[in-house]
Amino acid sequence: MDFDFTTVWERRGHDAIAVDALYEEGPHPRVPETVTDPLPMWIADMNFATAPAVTKAIGERLAHPLFGYFAPRGEYYEAILRWQKARNGRSDLTKEDIRFENGVLGGVINALNVCCSRADKVLVHSPVYVGFTGVLANNGYQAVHSPLIKDAQGVWRMDFDDMEKKVTEQKIHAVIFCSPHNPTGRVWEKEEVEAFMDFAKRHDLTVLSDEIWSDLLLDGHKHVPTQSVSEDARMRTVTFHAPTKTFSLAGLTGSYRICPNKKMQERLDREASLSHFNNLNVLSMYSVIGAFSPEGEAWLDALLPVLSDNVRILTDFLQGIPGVSLTPPEGTYMLFPDFTEWCRLHGRTLDDMLTAAWAAGVAIQDGRPFFGENCVRINAALPTARVREAVERLRKIL
Ligand SMILES: Cc1ncc(COP(=O)(O)O)c(C=O)c1O
Repeated sequence: MDFDFTTVWERRGHDAIAVDALYEEGPHPRVPETVTDPLPMWIADMNFATAPAVTKAIGERLAHPLFGYFAPRGEYYEAILRWQKARNGRSDLTKEDIRFENGVLGGVINALNVCCSRADKVLVHSPVYVGFTGVLANNGYQAVHSPLIKDAQGVWRMDFDDMEKKVTEQKIHAVIFCSPHNPTGRVWEKEEVEAFMDFAKRHDLTVLSDEIWSDLLLDGHKHVPTQSVSEDARMRTVTFHAPTKTFSLAGLTGSYRICPNKKMQERLDREASLSHFNNLNVLSMYSVIGAFSPEGEAWLDALLPVLSDNVRILTDFLQGIPGVSLTPPEGTYMLFPDFTEWCRLHGRTLDDMLTAAWAAGVAIQDGRPFFGENCVRINAALPTARVREAVERLRKIL
């Protein structure tokens, strides 16, 4: 079956921060009103319609126009279990291991509330997803950053000596592991996940593994679920997933956690129940059932080569610009180039460059809130013709 990844959707006025906010005052430059065909390449959602399997499942449910209180149906859990087995090879899971979460970030905080005390320090790798630092600060936890470092081949790696020092000296008991990693796009290899989980075991760390990006793998890269590397990893890790990034569904929510550790799961359930807010929405449930069906899977398999091509087009372009340094992502649809040398060569600041890009309607994201000095984050999830258009506009600026 053919899927549509070429339509350029008009998203302005259709409930999309990624487009509506371009023209508004905010902590970013502004796209002028004269630019009517902006390229939203910042916030991490896709400019593709969701899979037909999703709209079909929601549409069928809408035909029965009663939306009262409900409990998640068996098909909801079956869809998640099917997906985890098909995409991640996980045949060890049961319905009891799965719980709905309103969002991954909320789920992470819920888990921290169970395993930490307020004001505790929590290890993160930086550059770091801005949502983690924001939500940690908002909830009274302190993020301790362990910088990823590029090896001789330019591959982002964890610095185990630095992590060891920080965890020991700062009495850290919990770590957020982002796999694949946003914003660098690193897909951790099996040996790296094993080494990381050995480290977690040695220091008795609770691991909150955010695997929201794990379906979005470029050029055949493989995801290694954190819980899969050992029985100890399975018991000390709470994993978070969602169909929202993969299927353009962030506006519907629909995240979930996997926790095979029964005692931990019971404590997480208790904590999640306290607010009375963490409840599944009936249309979100049907979006999950549709997304994780075999038809949804076929759509994803068709999407991934499009994303890989888009990322390649942007990588080839950026790597050809003197002074721009970029390690291509292995997963996600985000690129995280470093403009330090470019700024020096041109005597311009990162803000100068960002302002010029937005003025031309290319909305790329400031990397500094992600702790990437002189970096920008670029979203490649647009129809390929729009990515080529972005390259042409950026060529004039850079
Ligand atoms: C690594 C990561 N985790 C979590 C989220 C947000 O997830 P949610 O909307 O389910 O809270 C994002 C969104 O960009 C993300 O990149």
